[in-house]
Amino acid sequence: MLLARVLVLFASSMKIVSGAGWCYQSQVTCNHTCTGPETWEVVSQHCGGRYQSPVNIVTRRMLPDERLTSFHLTGYQETFHGRLMNNGHTVQLDLPSNIRINGGNLPASYKGLQVHLHWGNAGGPGSEHTIDGEQFPMEMHIVHIKEEYDSIAQAGKDRTGVAVLGFFFQESASANKKFDPLINALKYIPQPTNSTELKGVSLDMFILPYNTMTKYFRYDGSLTTPNCAEAVVWSLFENAIPLSKKQLAAFSQLRFPNGQQMVRTYRPVQPLNGRQVYYSGGHAAAASIVLLITSVLVSSALCLHDTA
Ligand SMILES: *[C@@H]1O[C@H](CO)[C@@H](O)[C@H](O)[C@H]1NC(C)=O
Ligand SMILES: *[C@@H]1O[C@H](CO)[C@@H](O)[C@H](O)[C@H]1NC(C)=O
Ligand SMILES: [Zn+2]
Repeated sequence: MLLARVLVLFASSMKIVSGAGWCYQSQVTCNHTCTGPETWEVVSQHCGGRYQSPVNIVTRRMLPDERLTSFHLTGYQETFHGRLMNNGHTVQLDLPSNIRINGGNLPASYKGLQVHLHWGNAGGPGSEHTIDGEQFPMEMHIVHIKEEYDSIAQAGKDRTGVAVLGFFFQESASANKKFDPLINALKYIPQPTNSTELKGVSLDMFILPYNTMTKYFRYDGSLTTPNCAEAVVWSLFENAIPLSKKQLAAFSQLRFPNGQQMVRTYRPVQPLNGRQVYYSGGHAAAASIVLLITSVLVSSALCLHDTA
């Protein structure tokens, strides 16, 4: 913490901030001084807050929560034409105005804004959240804001203004054909500000089968890029989406503004600072029933032993 403060002071005094904007750790070199994750606090003070994202989820510490029921997804099956853009930090797909989510113990109904991804280098570790320390090759964020707001900036002022659905990816032997339209379009947007139209896609092409979306983790956190607003209700699905190594590696062909390969586009995990991570149950409930039966059997075995 102290080191971070010193770095922040140092960065401010060196005027690293001016003009450079923020960047990921992979962009920080001796030569190219941009504001990396350690000093994002200089760009926005929220980044130094206590309820930041991403976090490492320790499954042994999470609490099952029966209120975490299935989501109700509206417009996810409808096809649309969407703008796909290299925005200098990631690849982003803008969503049409009819996308809605509710249920899952969300405090309101939220509308979809955009989808973007975080990835590694050529299929290497690249997710933002980790599970028991494991970092996945990629993580997708579907960003929604409460219906009453017009922008992420507005929603960022409300503790529960933003709802992000997060999906992990894992490497599979065969390609996931549903991702081909998106992955094939990456070659048209190598440089920042390049954009292309993705035609005839729907959100359900990019997510998990609905019946596996009942298993998810929930906690309160922040946006994982500056301004790091602590306004996000996070829902991270336990099952990972399969992509081949080649498909994962395709994201590394994109470029950052200075021409470097766009790789390792993730923020390091942040401290939980006392926050609780909840789990939608299903699995955990079944596991505790098994434990209960086992302990009954064990204790009856002990009783038999005692009386013998
Ligand atoms: C460092 O900066 C110099 C001068 O701008 C440039 O010629 C050189 O290629 C840079 N090196 C790296 C590793 O970026
Ligand atoms: C991508 O953006 C760069 C920089 O703005 C521009 O020079 C280039 O022509 C663009 N390429 C395409 C395919 O639009
Ligand atoms: Zn994100």
